[in-house]
Amino acid sequence: MKLLVVGSGGREHALAWKLAQSPRVQIVYVAPGNGGTAQDERLRNVDITDPAALADFVEAEHVALTVIGPEAPLAAGIVNLFRSRGLKVFGPTKEAAQLESSKDFAKAFMKRHNIPTAEYETFTNAAAAHAYVDQKGTPIVIKADGLAAGKGVVVAMSDDEAHEAIDSMLEGNKLGDAGARVVIEEFLAGEEASFIVMVDGKHVLALASSQDHKRLLDGDKGPNTGGMGAYSPAPIVTPQLHARVMREIILPTVRGMENEGIRYTGFLYAGLMIDAQGNPKTLEFNCRMGDPETQPIMARLKGDFSKIIEMAIDGKLDGAELDWDRRTALGVVLAAHNYPETPRKGDRINGIPAETGDAVTFHAGTTLADGKLTTSGGRVLCVVGLADTVRGAQSVVYDTVNQISFDGMQYRRDIGYRAVNRKQAERHG
Ligand code: AMP
Ligand code: GLY
Repeated sequence: MKLLVVGSGGREHALAWKLAQSPRVQIVYVAPGNGGTAQDERLRNVDITDPAALADFVEAEHVALTVIGPEAPLAAGIVNLFRSRGLKVFGPTKEAAQLESSKDFAKAFMKRHNIPTAEYETFTNAAAAHAYVDQKGTPIVIKADGLAAGKGVVVAMSDDEAHEAIDSMLEGNKLGDAGARVVIEEFLAGEEASFIVMVDGKHVLALASSQDHKRLLDGDKGPNTGGMGAYSPAPIVTPQLHARVMREIILPTVRGMENEGIRYTGFLYAGLMIDAQGNPKTLEFNCRMGDPETQPIMARLKGDFSKIIEMAIDGKLDGAELDWDRRTALGVVLAAHNYPETPRKGDRINGIPAETGDAVTFHAGTTLADGKLTTSGGRVLCVVGLADTVRGAQSVVYDTVNQISFDGMQYRRDIGYRAVNRKQAERHG
């Protein structure tokens, strides 16, 4: 069978790479793909991004199933369009994708259904927003309502930062329509984890846990990014916490959407903040897989993922089971010069080693032209290593990273440090 993955990032490379391992899959098209998906002979890039043109392509090529990677086409209704044409697609409808595309929708939904999350209020009026910040004090978190490609959240530690964020979103129109409405919420302290599940409208199948590193620099310093590295499993998500997140967050969300007449289908990602006592709260929902969480998660997934996707599309996830490599997978993002502000493009990439049983390099912002691989985006590559321990996975990854080079390459040297610290504390505690 032929499959299609829509998107061009590291997440899509990892999804396509995994799907292509199935013996029943002839080819996985990736639209538009990147330099890495262009190089893999089991994958083929398709230079189409328009949803209707993609549906035409799927019909013409008899593509059996399509998986949508990023939030933008989901929020624009690509799943609605594919379904209206009778095409099999995995992802949420435009209505269901509001859990990500509108923070106000997500917060109001969580409040209605008693799903644990930070206290909040929504504003369109700057004066009222300023007054709320004065009343609540800092730290406080200011979020643009709409999709802002990771740039819509300001965790304000000082009053000045908070007021500035309100002004730039509501008055400066810095984020356009996405910031015309802001959610202001309580600052939550703790450790974050990514909790990602597959949903078929009714049944839920949890993927392995993971943790992302959102800051640019070691020790979680520097500006927020799309994610500088991730690993799976995340030891903070114990079996007890897993059960609690399913019971208090995931299942009420899926049931709540169904009760409101919006069947949720697709990947559902709850960004969690876990406090010192181990209580989880929902920071955000994403209506897709995480990037870079997908890369280590796919590296650990065993078995035929195309069958699981098909069961999800057919509403049969209750019969599905996932089998995981017991090792830890750890992914380190190699980012371009001047990422995240204005990443430079066009730097020549050298030295990416061939995939082995314990290391694989997924591409994101890369282009292949005339046999030459160059940078073409902020996050360029994500190198994933597998080993029995987090430290072992770090050593596999950084050995691989050391072989790769491009001008301006930047990456974190401490991906996985929280898990290492946790293990050490357990040994000494
Ligand atoms: P979001 O897009 O909502 O996940 O926000 C991006 C990042 O901002 C999160 O990964 C957290 O690191 C941080 N953040 C968001 N909301 C809060 C909050 N209520 N308290 C503390 N940090 C937050
Ligand atoms: N890694 C965070 C995200 O995908 O939103």
